[in-house]
Amino acid sequence: MDLKSQIDLEKLPRHIAIIMDGNGRWAKTHGQPRVFGHKNGVKAVRETTEAAAELGVEYLTLYAFSTENWNRPKLEVNALMALLVETIRKEIKTLNKNSIRLKAIGDISKLPPKSYKALLEGIEDTKDNTRMTLVLALNYSAQWEIVEATRRIAEQVKENKLNPEDIDQTIFANALSTMGMPDPELLIRTSGETRISNFLLWQIAYAELYFTETFWPDFRKLHLYEAILDYQRRERRFGKTSEQLVK
Ligand code: IPE
Ligand code: IPE
Ligand code: MG
Repeated sequence: MDLKSQIDLEKLPRHIAIIMDGNGRWAKTHGQPRVFGHKNGVKAVRETTEAAAELGVEYLTLYAFSTENWNRPKLEVNALMALLVETIRKEIKTLNKNSIRLKAIGDISKLPPKSYKALLEGIEDTKDNTRMTLVLALNYSAQWEIVEATRRIAEQVKENKLNPEDIDQTIFANALSTMGMPDPELLIRTSGETRISNFLLWQIAYAELYFTETFWPDFRKLHLYEAILDYQRRERRFGKTSEQLVK
């Protein structure tokens, strides 16, 4: 039986988040500059998005550029920003054909104007699509997001719209940029690194973590199926004992 048909569609994660890593090392193994790796990463984005939508995943969040990534060589940052514009413009048609809605999280107003504009256009042009939401984390940092949420809540308290004693996990979650989205049940990181790198710290409280050695540009539908099957073999106990879980 092929991998795809082994997936239990009743137990599909509603939200999958991916730290797309290893583009630079992939390029190196091909004797090419790092940017070559980023360019080839686009194919993996396309395949993964398509596979997730076909299965019926509701949200796919891709870590595309962290706030810390501004510290990379200027040439690489510029190339990544240009690639973002190019890719969004090229893919809007396909996103609409597949009814995929584009969304972004992160401090996107700080992106170069061209990238920001392309992103807003992509979001606007796909806003009515309902099959799946593709969330791009751009200039994203989870610690930044948590501080922003705190600031927003503090403003509400200051304006007497909220009592400090009423602040709970729901209010906090609703102040994050992922407001309204289910938390990811599955977090994938490629390239063999086993760290979170400031991604979705609040939202992954109970996510299953899946690490694979595959470099992002080599990631294909089958790799996504493997990750989902691995996730489905796990027992998610949420603090309970195994015996307490309804089988
Ligand atoms: C991930 O690949 C892409 C981004 C961070 C934008 P890397 O560029 O981090 O590739 P490695 O980790 O150096 O191989
Ligand atoms: C994390 O990858 C950010 C993205 C995938 C966009 P990095 O390659 O930047 O992470 P570190 O610096 O190795 O932790
Ligand atoms: Mg990396």
